[in-house]
Amino acid sequence: EQTVVRRDRFSGGPARGFLSSLADDARIFEADLAVDRAHVVMLAEQYVIDDEVAGEILAALAEIEADGHDALPEGEDVHEAIESAVIERVGEDGGKMHTARSRNDEVATCIRYRLREDLLETIATVVVARRQLVEMAADHREVVMPGYTHLQPAQPTTVGHWIASYEQALARDTGRLLDAYDRLNQNPLGSAAFAGTPFDVNRERTAELLGFEGVAENSMDASATRDFLVEVTAALANLATTLSGLAEDVIVMASKGHVELADEYASTSSIMPQKKNPDTLELVRGRTGDATAGLNGLLTNLKGQPRAYNRDLQRAGRHAWDAIDSVTESVEVAVGAVTTAEWPAETLAEAAGEGFSTATGIADLLAMRGVPFRTAHEVVARAAETLKHDENAPDYATLDAVAEEVLGDSLSAYVDRDAVERALDPAESVRTRNSRGGPAPEAVTDQLEVATDRLDSD
Ligand code: ARG
Repeated sequence: EQTVVRRDRFSGGPARGFLSSLADDARIFEADLAVDRAHVVMLAEQYVIDDEVAGEILAALAEIEADGHDALPEGEDVHEAIESAVIERVGEDGGKMHTARSRNDEVATCIRYRLREDLLETIATVVVARRQLVEMAADHREVVMPGYTHLQPAQPTTVGHWIASYEQALARDTGRLLDAYDRLNQNPLGSAAFAGTPFDVNRERTAELLGFEGVAENSMDASATRDFLVEVTAALANLATTLSGLAEDVIVMASKGHVELADEYASTSSIMPQKKNPDTLELVRGRTGDATAGLNGLLTNLKGQPRAYNRDLQRAGRHAWDAIDSVTESVEVAVGAVTTAEWPAETLAEAAGEGFSTATGIADLLAMRGVPFRTAHEVVARAAETLKHDENAPDYATLDAVAEEVLGDSLSAYVDRDAVERALDPAESVRTRNSRGGPAPEAVTDQLEVATDRLDSD
């Protein structure tokens, strides 16, 4: 019996469990069945195996699929176990399924096939999330909030402008995932162990049957490479990093009362009754490590592997699976938390004026009246130095005194008092920053139009 022969070659020794990937391979069980089917159909079309045998193998595969991964016989991996199960049902002829292929091209094909499905789901999740962010940004164009650099109050902006900034970053993340998808979506099947096969295989046909965009040409590269895993995981690590920034922003905002998370996205303390913590976002931030670790693990696994196949590769896929599961969930949770949160407009508007955040606006005003910006900067910087810790802006008299000192003239020689008062108002500051991409409501509207067009084409 061939089944016995196969099993004898799987070490019965102490390393048996160590060698086996059968449990991990549950992830590619369906993919392997699809690959088997495509291969068998192609072999029959090419007259490599009889139609009748092909039919019996396909019927066996249907049964095996219905029974599920857990019902498979023992094996070194899912490929061997499915082959054994086919032979159990079809008899010796079932062994014809493995004509003109190797587990090396088989597993490479399975991983690409399954990862393609997962990746499409991730991309769809990110696209849905981006639509939600665009909607949220549109609704919050007028909600003024403090903008920070170095975590210090910097300049007023709006919740709409801030959230649109993350949509734009997620658009690039989408682009990287789509780019990785194109190179992932190539067919290695028909490469066999690495050295091709004397059988008249039709690699374009299995590509077509499996929905691949093309054929991974060189058989040695096609069976050995896992760089597509690196690309996907790297794009995921970048996506996770984008999300971690968003999560961190919201965590900081929550600590200041600048946002009220929906209860479903918050957590309480088991001891401190007053607490409402942004745990979901802390987990999003923490999960960045999953993707980064995956990328690191993968590159370490792949480094220096000689051509062609090596068993190290059996440990490569898991890094990508872990990363993609973890990050996809993070996208949903992060965007869910942000879009269901309340943004208290009054508190935010008040906070937007803290720390003399309108200082740049005063300097801009002087510069618009012909004072060199560096000099204008000096006037406002000196006025800022007079501020006590709890003061948000210097009064007009102080600004005037400094202007006299630096410019040799009173402030009113350059700009009238009304204009100065207006420039000190955070909402006014936002309204005037209407340069392309800026926070002024109409500038945000324009950005969201670009974002929507981008979304439609992704
Ligand atoms: N299970 C293996 C993997 O995932 C494929 C088996 C190839 N084994 C071999 N000895 N060439 O990479």
